[in-house]
Amino acid sequence: MSADVADADAMRRAIELAARGLFTTDPNPRVGCVIVRDGRIVGEGWHRRAGEPHAEVLALGAAGAAARGATAVVTLEPCCHTGRTPPCADALIAAGVARVVCASQDPNPRVAGGGIARLRAAGVEVVVGTGAREARVLNPGFFARFERGRPHVRLKLAASLDARTAFADRRRAWITGEAAREDVQTWRARSAAVLTGAGTVRSDDPRLDVRLAYGDRVRQPLRVVLDPQASCAPTARVFAGGGALVFVAPEALAAAHAAHAGSPGVRVEALPRAAGGVDLEAALARLAALEVNELWVECGPRLAGSWLERGLVDELIVYYAPRLLGADAPPLAVLPAADDSAGAHFEFIDARFFGRDLRVILTARREESACSPGS
Ligand SMILES: NC(=O)c1ccc[n+]([C@@H]2O[C@H](COP(=O)([O-])OP(=O)(O)OC[C@H]3O[C@@H](n4cnc5c(N)ncnc54)[C@H](OP(=O)(O)O)[C@@H]3O)[C@@H](O)[C@H]2O)c1
Repeated sequence: MSADVADADAMRRAIELAARGLFTTDPNPRVGCVIVRDGRIVGEGWHRRAGEPHAEVLALGAAGAAARGATAVVTLEPCCHTGRTPPCADALIAAGVARVVCASQDPNPRVAGGGIARLRAAGVEVVVGTGAREARVLNPGFFARFERGRPHVRLKLAASLDARTAFADRRRAWITGEAAREDVQTWRARSAAVLTGAGTVRSDDPRLDVRLAYGDRVRQPLRVVLDPQASCAPTARVFAGGGALVFVAPEALAAAHAAHAGSPGVRVEALPRAAGGVDLEAALARLAALEVNELWVECGPRLAGSWLERGLVDELIVYYAPRLLGADAPPLAVLPAADDSAGAHFEFIDARFFGRDLRVILTARREESACSPGS
């Protein structure tokens, strides 16, 4: 087997391991590592939670003395800073690893090539780029936060076949079936924050929480409500149990503080005003500062329209139910009429059934979303 194939195979395994941390590593990236000696994997590790050992340290521990002279294959550049744990580059050097293969540089400015440089300075051969695209998919939000200063934004919409997102009489009822709603739970669970608009809180009173347990605990995402006028009742279910952040317009800050004064764990902050409500770019910048990597948006057509119009959606996830709700029912998104030049801003990347519903996933086409009406 050529060295390249061995590296690529080992990287695939490291990516598999990293994916085990999908629901738990936040705000850290999901990272996996394998130690390869004489064509055989002699140690494996993956990062579980912030504050717990990094993948490299666990893999080195599993390999023991066999790590000396071996190749470490890791899905992200080994760190060179002392964060909650000591630097992994130092651990690899101390273990006598001869070669390190990593998928990409760490975009975190505290690392950003520093781990690779430290390894090379110690005489360790370093290969960068193996499995780069596949490994990046593990951490879209971690890369977005450091490269673009904002979280990776996923907008979810549940719609009828005629792209209606609620009943015409606004009754509180599901459009999609249980399997689709269970799928939504897994997306929420991997996200650092779930965001909605005041309209949805006022009409549906959703909880927006995670009801799945991973191992011994359920990690609740931060629940974020864009409530410009501080109109949402503090008794709304989204605020129950704390862990919520309410963004209001500056003039509503005092009223919002007063309304939520008795709700522990509910934080209120002001954002500048913008068309339709509050400034979405400012919301994203603030969430990035709070170390939100992946943001899951579940909202009604008005806020959905604003996200789309501003070109801020990285992934669009639509569940289509096989039913028709009619022309009087609310649309998928409230948007101005498109002209031809707007073109398609998204491309389909996946289609799958969940029960009787169809889920489609689309990603933003960067070059075209760059000239969207919002930019
Ligand atoms: N099918 C689905 O996937 C789905 C999901 C959620 C909700 N819904 C349905 O959507 C309906 C509610 O729709 P909606 O449009 O009123 O709710 P929404 O989009 O969730 O909320 C809209 C409100 O968010 C606030 N907001 C803050 N910043 C904004 C901005 N930059 N742009 C736009 N809005 C901003 C405004 O509050 P103020 O009005 O206070 O200024 C605005 O009216 C309900 O019938 C619900 O069932 C469907």
